[in-house]
Amino acid sequence: MATYSELNGKVAIMSGAGGNAGLSVIQRLYSQGVRLALIDRNEAGLRARLRENNIDDSGILVGAVDLLKKDEIEAFVGNVIAQFGQIDILINQAGGYRPQPPIHEMDEATWDFLVDLNAKTMFLLSSTVAKQMVAKGTAGRIVSVAARGGLKGDPGNAAYAVSKSAVIRMTESMAAELMDHGIRVNVVLPSTLDTPPNRAANPDGDYAKWVSPESLADVLTFLLSDSARDISGAAIPVYGRA
Ligand SMILES: NC(=O)c1ccc[n+]([C@@H]2O[C@H](COP(=O)([O-])OP(=O)(O)OC[C@H]3O[C@@H](n4cnc5c(N)ncnc54)[C@H](OP(=O)(O)O)[C@@H]3O)[C@@H](O)[C@H]2O)c1
Repeated sequence: MATYSELNGKVAIMSGAGGNAGLSVIQRLYSQGVRLALIDRNEAGLRARLRENNIDDSGILVGAVDLLKKDEIEAFVGNVIAQFGQIDILINQAGGYRPQPPIHEMDEATWDFLVDLNAKTMFLLSSTVAKQMVAKGTAGRIVSVAARGGLKGDPGNAAYAVSKSAVIRMTESMAAELMDHGIRVNVVLPSTLDTPPNRAANPDGDYAKWVSPESLADVLTFLLSDSARDISGAAIPVYGRA
């Protein structure tokens, strides 16, 4: 694992912290000395998981925030500023998937669920955090997790593709909007992650071809580091051999 000494002491907000891919990113950032503010609706569960993995959670802020509620996001971001002074890093990892019928059979609830889950959560958290970065003149870094499936509409995947495509397009817009503020904005596009739910859903899958959460975390950490200082507006494929 690479060491990026410039990350030591930086303040990071991360959503989706309690998800399947969350722990690997937390471990990477914690080991680099990043001060963490994590978002997960199950605070007690996340804290237990951190301790089980030998992470001292006493200095970690956890917010049981619903990312579809702007007032909850603003209150949490205010708490982070009050506790840590500023926000250097945002990782938008919250998101997800649900099987969908073809568009001509899709109900409004399925559309709204996926677009809210992937696009609106990213919009509400990013806009709130970026506003703070601009106000404080922070040379921030924002990295979001979209998906390979956001590059192209496939049959039975329209709402998910739209929702992850929105994350890519928002990244491009924000990268251009925030360039002169010294804030870098990038997005990663995993294919299938090697997680317990994916293994359960694909018992005959060739897991060696999938992307491990640790591998995804390495790419995210690189993008946050000064080694990626000239990268902004990029959508990075993280496909493994899938
Ligand atoms: N798994 C894959 O194969 C794969 C492939 C490509 C891209 N991705 C993307 O990679 C990211 C991480 O994947 P993962 O497997 O770790 O997903 P995951 O296990 O489903 O975790 C997603 C997390 O997002 C949180 N979240 C969703 N909506 C929220 C809301 N309104 N407010 C607060 N938290 C919310 C969930 O919290 P709750 O549990 O409380 O709902 C959950 O902790 C996601 O963006 C996913 O779309 C995953």
